[in-house]
Amino acid sequence: MDPSASGLAQRLAEADQSQLLRFWNELRPDEQANLTLELQGMDFQEINGFFKNAMETSSGSKHEKLDARMEPVPREVLGSVTRDKENLKDWEQTGLHCISQSKVAALLLAGGQGTRLGVSYPKGMYDVGLPSHKTLFQIQAERILKLQQLAEQQHKIKCCIPWYIMTSGRTMESTKDYFSRHNYFGLDKNNIVFFQQGMLPAMDYKGKIILENKGKLSMAPDGNGGLYRALGNQGIMDDMERRGIESIHVYCVDNILVKVADPSFVGFCVQKGADCGAKVVEKTNPTEAVGVVCKVDGHYQVVEYSEITLATAEMRSADGRLMFNAGNVANHYFSFSFLRDVVQKYEPKLQHHVAQKKIPYVDSEGQLIKPDKPNGIKMEKFVFDIFQFAKTFAVYEVLREDEFSPLKNADCQDGKDTPTTARHALMSLHHRWVLNAGGHFIDENGRRVPAIPSLKDGTDLPIKCEISPLVSYGGEGLEKLVKGRGFHPTLTIDEHGVHELVKNGV
Ligand code: UTP
Repeated sequence: MDPSASGLAQRLAEADQSQLLRFWNELRPDEQANLTLELQGMDFQEINGFFKNAMETSSGSKHEKLDARMEPVPREVLGSVTRDKENLKDWEQTGLHCISQSKVAALLLAGGQGTRLGVSYPKGMYDVGLPSHKTLFQIQAERILKLQQLAEQQHKIKCCIPWYIMTSGRTMESTKDYFSRHNYFGLDKNNIVFFQQGMLPAMDYKGKIILENKGKLSMAPDGNGGLYRALGNQGIMDDMERRGIESIHVYCVDNILVKVADPSFVGFCVQKGADCGAKVVEKTNPTEAVGVVCKVDGHYQVVEYSEITLATAEMRSADGRLMFNAGNVANHYFSFSFLRDVVQKYEPKLQHHVAQKKIPYVDSEGQLIKPDKPNGIKMEKFVFDIFQFAKTFAVYEVLREDEFSPLKNADCQDGKDTPTTARHALMSLHHRWVLNAGGHFIDENGRRVPAIPSLKDGTDLPIKCEISPLVSYGGEGLEKLVKGRGFHPTLTIDEHGVHELVKNGV
């Protein structure tokens, strides 16, 4: 229908966004229909408000350093897998008990666009080249399956860990289709709930929405903090309530080492009575560009590296560690009641952050332009923006080499956070599991490979070794398979047994 007749043109004029109809007369009827549909679903006044607030907040905070207002995480809210070893078993038991009662859910943030990795399909479908060629989604699904089994065996009761998967407009269909084609990797499909986060238009610096072609707006997901709005408007909190969920583990799709629904982390947070918890890894290098969890004006928050001076980043405690060393890895615990309060009360108070981007656009002549410097902004909320509302906060420190290796970038020489680094991190963890369970490796000359390989040996490549999550969730249960045995890499251990693929390259 003609936009003037439908009132759309007027709504756009009132919001100062009439440029979106600039090419209306050049569009085919089907393109006109699609554009109308897209525009009709949008609240331009709200979007303009987001823009105004986000720009004000970002220009106000750009140069302000937070140093003077920051305090490190106090020891009493911190649990550490290295410093509190004596409590680990107890936390794990508490977590497993909650899981056995079906009170724990996993929530996966998988709505990102994966621009840096550069694949056209959802990142969870990526195969980093493990011997099994399992994708990130499959690895996570199998960890959930195994954890359910462990809780069931221990407590002699059937249980489930519902898995909530947040996608975006761009990834929803392919993600759902992928799970269905793979029969949900053995999980009950009724316990996997897909939902979709919102999208926001990209805008130029004056607040005008950008057209990516003559009949289509440039849209992007509204950040992983779009979670909270989506939880409310897609009925997910109601679903959790119906199922009696009390604890939620939220994590990112790209961390190949993620311990989904980690019972120790859940148990620690439950014992602390925390409404919100953050898993962290120790930041050891002052200039590493990682956000740190700390208190600002008495409230918990993630402070980005760019928000503090080098002098503060370099400050050390009496034990020699960096004072602000709680490196955030976007891996969180929420109690159900806290999450419900966030969704109902706090979410609207969160401001969008501004990310300056190079956004392809059509100019007033209708030419497609690919800018070589940032020409506009995308607006995003972050999942950790809600820490400030927590009444009881807990921080759980884990070892980076055991639990954190994100896949962000495509492979390149010496690249960081690539398929190669992710694959190596997983194989190196599994190598250590075999050693800890009393197994060892033998090289092609029949010699025992030392537990700590020498770099002089020519490579710092890990031993090729992969253990299926269906066999072990976190290194447990391997003695009966490996103790006292020597293996030739490539070693794979799966639900069918132990296999050595001597000549198989990885
Ligand atoms: P990143 O910020 O690393 O973004 O997401 P990304 O989309 O994976 O990659 P780039 O920046 O485009 O290269 C961290 C986590 O947050 C999720 C991602 O799916 C990933 O698990 N995320 C990000 C969302 O769920 N929604 C978003 O809007 C953005």
